[in-house]
Amino acid sequence: MTEPLDWRDGQPWSRRYGDVYFSREGGLGQARHVFLAGNRLAERFAALPPHGHFTIGETGFGTGLSFLTAWQLFEQVAPSSAQLDVLSTERYPLEAGQLIAALAPWPELADPAAALCAQMIALPPGWHRCVLAGGRVRLTLLLGDARETLPEVTTTVDAWFLDGFSPARNPDMWSDTLLAQVARLSRPGTTYATWASSGVVRRGLGAVGFTVSRSPGFGSKWEMVRGEFAGSPASASGAPWLRRAPALPDARDAIVIGGGLAGTAAAASLAARGLAVTLLDRRSSLATEASGNDQGVLYIKPSAHGTALTDLSLSGLAFTRRELARRLLADGRAWSDCGVLALAHDLADADRQAALATLGWPTAFLRAVDAAEASALAGLALSSGGLFYGTAGWAHPPAVCTAFADHAGITTRFGANVDVIVRDADGRWRVTTSDGATVDAAVVVVAGGLDSGRLPPLAHLPLKAIRGQITGLPATPASIRLATVLCGESYVAPARQGRHWLGATFGIGDTDTGRRPADDLANIADLRALAPALVAALGDDVSDATRHAGRAGIRCVTPDYLPIVGTVADAHAFRDRFAALARDATTTFDTDAPWLDGLLVTTGHGSRGLVTAPIAGELIASLVTGEPLPLPERLVQALGAARFLARSLKRRRPVA
Ligand SMILES: Cc1cc2nc3c(=O)[nH]c(=O)nc-3n(C[C@H](O)[C@H](O)[C@H](O)COP(=O)(O)OP(=O)(O)OC[C@H]3O[C@@H](n4cnc5c(N)ncnc54)[C@H](O)[C@@H]3O)c2cc1C
Ligand SMILES: C[S@@+](CC[C@H](N)C(=O)[O-])C[C@H]1O[C@@H](n2cnc3c(N)ncnc32)[C@H](O)[C@@H]1O
Repeated sequence: MTEPLDWRDGQPWSRRYGDVYFSREGGLGQARHVFLAGNRLAERFAALPPHGHFTIGETGFGTGLSFLTAWQLFEQVAPSSAQLDVLSTERYPLEAGQLIAALAPWPELADPAAALCAQMIALPPGWHRCVLAGGRVRLTLLLGDARETLPEVTTTVDAWFLDGFSPARNPDMWSDTLLAQVARLSRPGTTYATWASSGVVRRGLGAVGFTVSRSPGFGSKWEMVRGEFAGSPASASGAPWLRRAPALPDARDAIVIGGGLAGTAAAASLAARGLAVTLLDRRSSLATEASGNDQGVLYIKPSAHGTALTDLSLSGLAFTRRELARRLLADGRAWSDCGVLALAHDLADADRQAALATLGWPTAFLRAVDAAEASALAGLALSSGGLFYGTAGWAHPPAVCTAFADHAGITTRFGANVDVIVRDADGRWRVTTSDGATVDAAVVVVAGGLDSGRLPPLAHLPLKAIRGQITGLPATPASIRLATVLCGESYVAPARQGRHWLGATFGIGDTDTGRRPADDLANIADLRALAPALVAALGDDVSDATRHAGRAGIRCVTPDYLPIVGTVADAHAFRDRFAALARDATTTFDTDAPWLDGLLVTTGHGSRGLVTAPIAGELIASLVTGEPLPLPERLVQALGAARFLARSLKRRRPVA
């Protein structure tokens, strides 16, 4: 739903709250006076050391003006190797067109505003990581009520922009609950500034541990409020295995094992933070195993009930889409944002689709379509409607991997089959390849798909293989009219370089990558059920096995079908330390898990690596550097690498 705005003298005014987004006397001047000067950002940015890092928290993103103003100042005065993270909450996001109109009055912000608006396309609910300024500035937008999203943040903010309409119009944004979260995410010395100066704001901030100083306000406003956190920092809570190893903010180098989607994405995110990355793969080029298909679909199957997989899929799809647009031309070779049409394949699926369509997500992201509209979108006759994911599409995974690995900070070595990973006495990790060569670094990220579990420190991960084969059929003049991806129980994509790719088979536990004609026939049978009109358009080649192409690969899945992303624990020490769980699963512990500091994993991306691996790469890099994470805490915990160790102890199964 479009957020209802009035435009008064060219400036947005919220009909929902009956309030202005920024001062009528000049939004840019207000942001500079209140938020930048109020937090002393010019001097603090300038004083950052090389590779320094600064985190801003904001309680109302609105038009993005305050964010853009901070970004502009950062680029002007911070050292060129320093990085900025901004976490901003927003319950009622504006659409890209509204943002463009609201920011139009400031030509000096035109370039960053255009870069921001290009990323604000049809965002579904949840957390959204936007990478800007070539990777130097990251915006993490927490869409939802700040009282619910801030408790999911685990980071320390350096400066707060408190801005959520006036306390009289929007008391929720100044409630004790919300200010307690602001305090929880602060450390001694964290500053805040706000134009709101009423007694309720001053008392609320003082009550949660902030100093409160009044200073002259912007324009005709008499005063504003600013101050510092003077309370005690919050301590970590929750089961130790749900937490993670301490970050390594001083790490300057990393080894990534695996040149598929997971490894190249992690390498890209680490390199963007200034780490020197050595990317190792046993093969002779990138993307030769699961990530080697000609076409993969950017497809998700969310639930209306907000599962961890749904949250990951929504954040992941939108992130991948932004990264593809940033790194690759949508030229029909590397990727296409042609949309994905999900056709209901049975009654339960139709019910699931109907429930999703009522959630009020942006229609440009997802909308229900009937058979007539579905046929118009697809360019060929379909007998039923479904859900249309307007920002999704397909990608050529090898092009995605190549784009991720294309960074001056990444050195790629092929033919490097890693057998051994050990930590030396000085704390550095050393990996040895089958030919005896060694490489060492502060951090190792294992992204070896199913074979991640062959490396001894990761042997406890319960990874399972699901073989899959896709089939390529020659396009015809009639079939190239297919304009969107079609998905049901199987999928088919618009033609890429003269072929439509369809698939894929599911062979649980099967690790054979040889191509099987019977699997091509199974894929074609599925296509007949999904899109008979396309089969007719493809003509006689459908039945001519000599015209079929195909490729098999192994998906790596986990027992809960969520990827494994995060820091790795020492399995044996874990079993010893938490043995009491086997007797009583409710036992609590005050010790930390035995983390292998600096060893991380990203695998188990199953059938959706295009959607999950890029955001997982961001998560890996943020865990290493200790910056704000791109995903909510409960989701980070759900992806954690130690979850299976704890589960198997609780179920009294032996840990490998
Ligand atoms: C048939 C099929 C269809 C699919 N369709 C889709 C789709 O439409 N959409 C989608 O999003 N996803 C799809 N997927 C899933 C997607 O391809 C995977 O999730 C993704 O490729 C996994 O990437 P990865 O980097 O984890 O694994 P991989 O791409 O397998 O990469 C692992 C890499 O690690 C290397 N390696 C392993 N061990 C070592 C070692 N010891 N030393 C050195 N190197 C090592 C390997 O050589 C390999 O290059 C499909 C998968 C298959 C098989
Ligand atoms: C005054 S505007 C912020 C202006 C913004 N700083 C800018 O640069 O445009 C306040 C914003 O807070 C958002 N908001 C209001 N209540 C919220 C809540 N409970 N959680 C998150 N955002 C909220 C509004 O939708 C609005 O966009």
